[in-house]
Amino acid sequence: MNQPENYVDSIHNESYEAQYSGKKITNKSMISDRGREKESLGGYWSFGIDQYDTCLRAKWYEEVYIDQDGNYIPMDFSFDEWEKVLVPSSWNTNKEKYLLYEGSAVYTRTFLYLDHGEERVFLKFGAVNYDAKVFLNKQYLGQHKGGSTPFYIEVTEYLQEQNRILVVANNTRKQDQVPCKNTDWFNYGGIYRDVELIRLPATYIKDFSIGLVPDGSFSKIKVELEIEGPDQDGHALLKIDQLGIDQTIEVREGKGSVVIEAQPNLWSPDHPVLYKTSLTYQDDSVHDKIGFREIRVDGREIVLNGKPIFLKGISAHEESVKNGKAVTDEEIIENFKLAKEMNCNYMRLAHYPHTERAAQIADEMGILLWEEIPVYWSIEFHNPETYQDAENQLTELIRRDRNRASVIVWSVGNENADTEDRVSFMSALAMKAKELDPTRLVSAACMLDHVNHIIADRLADYLDVIGANQYYGWYQTEFNNLIKLFENSNLSKPVIITEFGADAKAGHRGTVDQKGTEDCQQDIYKKQVAVLDQIPYVRGLSPWILYDFRCPRRLHPITQNYYNTKGLLSEDKSHKKLAFYVMQQYYQGK
Ligand code: GCU
Repeated sequence: MNQPENYVDSIHNESYEAQYSGKKITNKSMISDRGREKESLGGYWSFGIDQYDTCLRAKWYEEVYIDQDGNYIPMDFSFDEWEKVLVPSSWNTNKEKYLLYEGSAVYTRTFLYLDHGEERVFLKFGAVNYDAKVFLNKQYLGQHKGGSTPFYIEVTEYLQEQNRILVVANNTRKQDQVPCKNTDWFNYGGIYRDVELIRLPATYIKDFSIGLVPDGSFSKIKVELEIEGPDQDGHALLKIDQLGIDQTIEVREGKGSVVIEAQPNLWSPDHPVLYKTSLTYQDDSVHDKIGFREIRVDGREIVLNGKPIFLKGISAHEESVKNGKAVTDEEIIENFKLAKEMNCNYMRLAHYPHTERAAQIADEMGILLWEEIPVYWSIEFHNPETYQDAENQLTELIRRDRNRASVIVWSVGNENADTEDRVSFMSALAMKAKELDPTRLVSAACMLDHVNHIIADRLADYLDVIGANQYYGWYQTEFNNLIKLFENSNLSKPVIITEFGADAKAGHRGTVDQKGTEDCQQDIYKKQVAVLDQIPYVRGLSPWILYDFRCPRRLHPITQNYYNTKGLLSEDKSHKKLAFYVMQQYYQGK
């Protein structure tokens, strides 16, 4: 159809997003970046809430200020005069008026790039929730979907001395996304992890993995590497001085791998031993601190470094009252210290990939981790694009953290109804996780059959460890059915009770029958651990949850007030509830 004479694309074109969907930024463009020089572009960026996506519709990023007749045209934006917002941060915690905003926002800043003669330059985004469209010097670089994993874009050919970067971040919840529209946590938005510039030589180390061969000998280190760039054949050098390793690795057609005999002191929560490791190829090198340990399943046991282990854990979201999802190292360390104070050796980082700093710090502090992608509740399991999104987030997570000794479990989701589409979708993810990383356990937090009181989820056949969420004494009001559940379930694999718990408003006291009191929560915890301690194949617990967290589904004005109050501490972690001490005492005796 011919457009009328006065047709204005930017206000009449409702398929404006299609022009941006052709350039997908995925795990394929990830690079190995540990121990590399990085130049942060963090700081104060110009920021505009863009509810109607006018930036994308009217192409503000092209910065056209004059028409073809040389006249200035009226502007609906001003990058330089917009307010400033800190990157990284969740926009929700920047200003009261942004707390509940869901939609698009435009971030932009200029930066100077002095060419040091390097050949390749990448931008790294730690994470943007949920959909990020990136522009540099008026050029569209691409779109990343997924709110919790890093993405990388090569910018070599776009960089000038003076540059403007512009990002449209959109955190609108959509049913075909991962997670979908309905979750039990707060939907923070924005560029909430750092943005960095990484300079690389023409030929560089694109990927690097290292770890113990899980053969029970604890004496073989496997290294795999991938090279990008013109020089695909040559030799890499792996150095681990404390192990006397100075190993040449042959690289052919960009790939190299080797198994090296070594006797490292094994990493464990009690002995978080890390070895300074460097890998060099021509003019490039990456540096990391690696813990060597083995995790596997033996019958109904979880075995760490050859010995059965009980995972004394707690679940946690990635959130603080002050910073929303943009948690700081100090806040991560505080959480791990609280877990250790509870005598934990393990944490479930729910329900999405937390910042890479979490596993890096857990490596140093000695906390085992369950990491998870947000395949949560009613995902569009029939939708192939949704599967691609989930698989990409899983791949980005595994590529990011597979050199972290603390990470022992990849979880492919949480509490999903046991339908044909779901089993097909999640079993494919479980097999993908195994393919990407055969050295770790694959699991998921499964729902249980609360009608017949049995743990019977078809996904379990694809898992090394069965995660089981159950709330007997709370949502399942008849507590004694928990005993029936285990009488009816005879499992040949280890089970981690990935969630149990109850709401309790911090400081709210009463009788054990009064829901919402600390006394009621404490009573449920006591009854839960008394039963769970009797079940031989329950090999770990991660009660729900370390501390209260923002949740738009929790609107009881007295006991919730927009928070999920199942925490063992208040949302600001200033108050330990009675149930904290139940777990502390139970784990002490474990
Ligand atoms: C579910 C879910 C959690 C949720 C919790 C609750 O099991 O996995 O994300 O917060 O129950 O209802 O508090």
